[in-house]
Amino acid sequence: MDLQALLAGIEPIVRRAGAYIRTAVPSSVDEKSNHSDLVTEYDVNTQRMLMSDLAALHPEANFMGEEEHLEADIRTGDCFVIDPIDGTTNFVKGFNRSCISVALLRNGQPAAGVVYNPWNDEYYSALKGQGALLNGTPIRVQNTPLKDSVVGCGTCPYYPDLAQKTLRVCSVILNTALDIRRMGSAALDLCDAAMSRTGAFFELKLSPWDYAAAGLILTEAGGEITDTEGNPVSLSHPSPVVAGNPIARKELEEIIRNTK
Ligand code: IPD
Ligand code: CA
Ligand code: CA
Repeated sequence: MDLQALLAGIEPIVRRAGAYIRTAVPSSVDEKSNHSDLVTEYDVNTQRMLMSDLAALHPEANFMGEEEHLEADIRTGDCFVIDPIDGTTNFVKGFNRSCISVALLRNGQPAAGVVYNPWNDEYYSALKGQGALLNGTPIRVQNTPLKDSVVGCGTCPYYPDLAQKTLRVCSVILNTALDIRRMGSAALDLCDAAMSRTGAFFELKLSPWDYAAAGLILTEAGGEITDTEGNPVSLSHPSPVVAGNPIARKELEEIIRNTK
């Protein structure tokens, strides 16, 4: 299926899901892998809604998603990678900073990506090789070094063993950069890097549905996303993420590598 047509078809589907969660009042909140790993009825319902609409748009595509153990072999063909609500803790606590994230992988590589925050109506989209857009307007990163940047971080709330390392890295960044932000969701944090609101972002372990779409948006805006060794992030398994404009990302990668 033609990617431009697919991207156009995804927009009303994602906006409909956004309208659904924007007016939601979560009532049942359950825990998944640990006490911080929350899931609501809206996470599950939104994934089902997205899957049903996206399957009607592109019947040949497979699905990988955060909820209900939705796994797929991504190596061949087309596969949607969905995070129905990225930023569930923000959603439950009323921070109005969560999003719907949908990527399309073609033969294992990101081909299209959409991230939508329904609370401020920021709709990010990208097609491989064709740049990134915010609400239809092209976006491009600025090459600001770390010392002149705000740095985004994620705290790996579902992996408590990574807390101390995360804090040690943050302590170095606080002495290097302008300041730190920990806002979540990871997809929106990556889009903030694409907008150069932050110069760089890191989180020591994320899942492919957190970064599949936003990673493409960032790279199409001229940024980079790698693991802590500077290698491409995995799209089939969890990975550390170091992202941002090329200069700040590289500086951040070195800080993380040199922080024991
Ligand atoms: C989480 C959010 C959060 C990040 C976590 C993610 P979820 O996703 O992106 O900002 O720190 O590592 O797992 O569980 O809200 O979809
Ligand atoms: Ca997520
Ligand atoms: Ca989620």
